[in-house]
Amino acid sequence: MRKASRIRPAEKEALRFYLPQIQVPDDAIISSNIFENKSSPIFVEIGFGKGEFLYNMASQYPDINFVGIEIFITGIAKLIRRMCNYNNSNPLQLKNIKILIKDAFSALKENFLDNSIQKAFILFPDPWPKKRHHKRRLINPEFAQLLKKRLIKDGSVLIATDHKEYLEAIRDVMREIGFKEEMCSEPFVFNTKYARKALEKGEKIYQFLYQK
Ligand SMILES: C[S@@+](CC[C@H](N)C(=O)[O-])C[C@H]1O[C@@H](n2cnc3c(N)ncnc32)[C@H](O)[C@@H]1O
Repeated sequence: MRKASRIRPAEKEALRFYLPQIQVPDDAIISSNIFENKSSPIFVEIGFGKGEFLYNMASQYPDINFVGIEIFITGIAKLIRRMCNYNNSNPLQLKNIKILIKDAFSALKENFLDNSIQKAFILFPDPWPKKRHHKRRLINPEFAQLLKKRLIKDGSVLIATDHKEYLEAIRDVMREIGFKEEMCSEPFVFNTKYARKALEKGEKIYQFLYQK
């Protein structure tokens, strides 16, 4: 788990109250059985940050079960605060979000079965721009191969980034693994911290959809 940065008392309290309701145990296998709606498809967001996109998607699509994977505990607390409408006495508003607090590769490996994820989102993965740090990048051939196995037959992955060099590396990896690349036409609105940062700096946001 990443270090908790600037975590506020209300966020700490929210974690204590609500985390047991939405956190998937470390060794659990994820299927729609862990959700209230047991016949809905599963969408996964990897590295959801503060959870803005995850929350908006889960509100907009109540018939889809969302699993968020994140290692940044302050971001998880911010998602939970949003889910209780910033009042720790409220019940959680959404029943279709569960979270896994662990490294995404380990989560895909240990908590999902093959052919179980309909759609995955990876928005603004850390680009690790220095060459000596490239090995830390999330999207590498091993990760892409595993993710492909976990997707259902017609599953897909949406990846957004504003980092041109990482984008090219991602495209190479995804094509090498056999994903079919499409320019994403769906009007997803990424009102996430990193999308806002990119737009403020005037950077172009690239989004690609990869079909299994
Ligand atoms: C650049 S931030 C983007 C956050 C969010 N998607 C956004 O658009 O604002 C990358 C996020 O991925 C998370 N992350 C990085 N490596 C991860 C890993 N191996 N497993 C799970 N989450 C990871 C980080 O904690 C961080 O929240």
